[in-house]
Amino acid sequence: MITDATLPTPTFVLDMARLRGNLETAKRVREEAGCKILLATKAFAMPAVFPMMRDYLDGTTASGEYEAIMGAETFGKEVHVYSPAYTQSELNAVTKIAQHVYFNSAQQLEQWGHSAIDAGCEIGLRVNPGYSNATLGGDLYDPCAPSSRFGEIASKLDQVDWSKVDIFHVHALCESLHEGSIGLINHVAQHFAPYLKQVKAVNFGGGHFLNKPGYDVDALIVAIKAFKTQFDVEVILEPGGGLVVNTGELHASVIALHWNDKDLAIIDASASTHMPDVLEVPYRPDIIGAGEANEKAHTYTLGGKTCMTGDVIGTYSFDKPLTPADRLIFTDQMHYSFVKTNTFNGSPLANLAIRHEDGQIEMVSNFGYEDFRVRLGA
Ligand SMILES: Cc1ncc(COP(=O)(O)O)c(C=O)c1O
Repeated sequence: MITDATLPTPTFVLDMARLRGNLETAKRVREEAGCKILLATKAFAMPAVFPMMRDYLDGTTASGEYEAIMGAETFGKEVHVYSPAYTQSELNAVTKIAQHVYFNSAQQLEQWGHSAIDAGCEIGLRVNPGYSNATLGGDLYDPCAPSSRFGEIASKLDQVDWSKVDIFHVHALCESLHEGSIGLINHVAQHFAPYLKQVKAVNFGGGHFLNKPGYDVDALIVAIKAFKTQFDVEVILEPGGGLVVNTGELHASVIALHWNDKDLAIIDASASTHMPDVLEVPYRPDIIGAGEANEKAHTYTLGGKTCMTGDVIGTYSFDKPLTPADRLIFTDQMHYSFVKTNTFNGSPLANLAIRHEDGQIEMVSNFGYEDFRVRLGA
């Protein structure tokens, strides 16, 4: 039996009980607001747990062909796809797999809409609502940042052939609390009413951080119900992070200690290869039992094994000095983490495991040298 102490590291461990708790929130929103909720697989995709997730959600939304195939094969239910642009071959593929295909502009709708309609798909048009609420990363994570490439702009919406559009789509949030979700819903109601009256459904995208402490789920439900009544449309949400926030950790081990003006620890997890958002957002993930620099007796700056000088995770303090083989557990590592890992420097991928509701840990991957080599074309 695998325990936290014997788990190979680095490994991402998903906690099924916490995931179920988060999905219960989604289920409540679906049932009480009468809306659909899709999983955005760009944020989290672990087919091993899709059979359980399937009972709580309406389907998946994909960023392109591969995620669409995975959604259809391993999740089932509805498959939606939005990409900022499709190649001809990708469009041919996604219109066979998905029932809902979204375009990024009036021009793309004009160019590709008829073939998606002929293939029997419902059509979405992504609109840039000009509403900013992203709570992290500034413009980097704001889909409505100046000159963003996402969605048709308001001034061109009169040129759209709305008879071809089933779903009015906006995605403007990022790790937003209810104020962001409700603000977006009200903004869309206020600024886009003439178009909403011509579609069957409105998809309010992702970024609804439904399970973050402080998110007022009841307030979201009220806002969705009011919107549905006002426009007589179906409402869809497609969160990723908000469905899996705080549902799992990355377990790592200290490999070696070093000193250069300050205490350093080199660990088998890396910002560059296992937690790229640490550098991209950037942010400092929490470690169970560790404090801020100098808060506890022993302070270390933690870095990965790669050659990148900036592959630094952060500075933390501990009650006891670190020693090689010590375990470190980084919290809240289920969204935009293992879906983004890479093998730079030949770094082993972090494995994936599930902590079942009876406490048993099951490994769901066994990555090794082959995974590294295959990616290099060998
Ligand atoms: C179009 C679209 N929908 C949904 C999502 C999921 O967002 P989140 O994981 O923040 O909920 C994203 C994230 O980038 C997105 O671009």
